[in-house]
Amino acid sequence: MELRSTTANDLQTILGWVKNNQEMVMWSGPTFTWPLEYAQLERYFHNPNRTYWSAIDTESQELVGHASLLIDNDADLMRVGFIIVNPEYRGRGVGREFVDAVVCDGFQASTLPVMKLGVYAHNTAALKLYESLGFSKTGVVFQTTVDEEQWDVLDMARPAVTG
Ligand SMILES: CC(C)(COP(=O)(O)OP(=O)(O)OC[C@H]1O[C@@H](n2cnc3c(N)ncnc32)[C@H](O)[C@@H]1OP(=O)(O)O)[C@@H](O)C(=O)NCCC(=O)NCCS
Repeated sequence: MELRSTTANDLQTILGWVKNNQEMVMWSGPTFTWPLEYAQLERYFHNPNRTYWSAIDTESQELVGHASLLIDNDADLMRVGFIIVNPEYRGRGVGREFVDAVVCDGFQASTLPVMKLGVYAHNTAALKLYESLGFSKTGVVFQTTVDEEQWDVLDMARPAVTG
C-alpha cells in the first residue's frame, strides 16, 4: 500500500463507495447532505487546514482508502476524519495499515500532543480499528437522528507516542 495526496479523480471514485444516506453519515457525520454529489466533496476538498490522503494498492494501483487530517494549531486541535476504505477491500487490514500511516504523519507534522476523532457508537469495524491504533473513548458527545434512528456520537483521543 502506498500513501499519496488525494486527487479530484479520487473524489469521483469515493463518491461511488457511498451508497445511501446512512452510509454517508456513518462515514462523514453531518458534513454532507444526501444525495451526495461531487460538488459537496469538492467543497470539503478545499480546507487549507486539512491534508487529504489516499491509499493506493501497490499491485493493482487501485484507490483503496481515503482520510483527511485537520490540524488547527491556533485551536490546539488535530483531528483525523473522513476515513473510508474501498468496499471491495474492507476486512483485510487496509484500514489498519492506512490509518496508522495517517496518524503517524499527523504527529510528525504537528507538535500537538493529542489526536482526536469522532465515530458513531454502533460502527463496530471503525471502533475496533481505532482502539487497535491506541485511541480511547472519551465520551458520548451528542445524539443525532438519522432516518428516524437515534445514533450516539463518540469522541476518541490518542496521545502521541513518545520515546
Ligand atoms: C471502518 C473501516 C475504515 C475499516 O476498514 P477495514 O479496512 O475494513 O478495517 P481492517 O480490515 O483494517 O480491520 C480493522 C479492525 O476492525 C475489525 N473489523 C473490520 N470489519 C469489521 C466488521 N464488519 N465487523 C466487526 N469488526 C470488523 C477487524 O477485525 C480489525 O480488528 P481486529 O484486528 O481486532 O480483528 C471500513 O469498514 C469502512 O470504510 N467503513 C465505512 C466508512 C466508515 O464507517 N468510516 C469510519 C468513519 S468514523
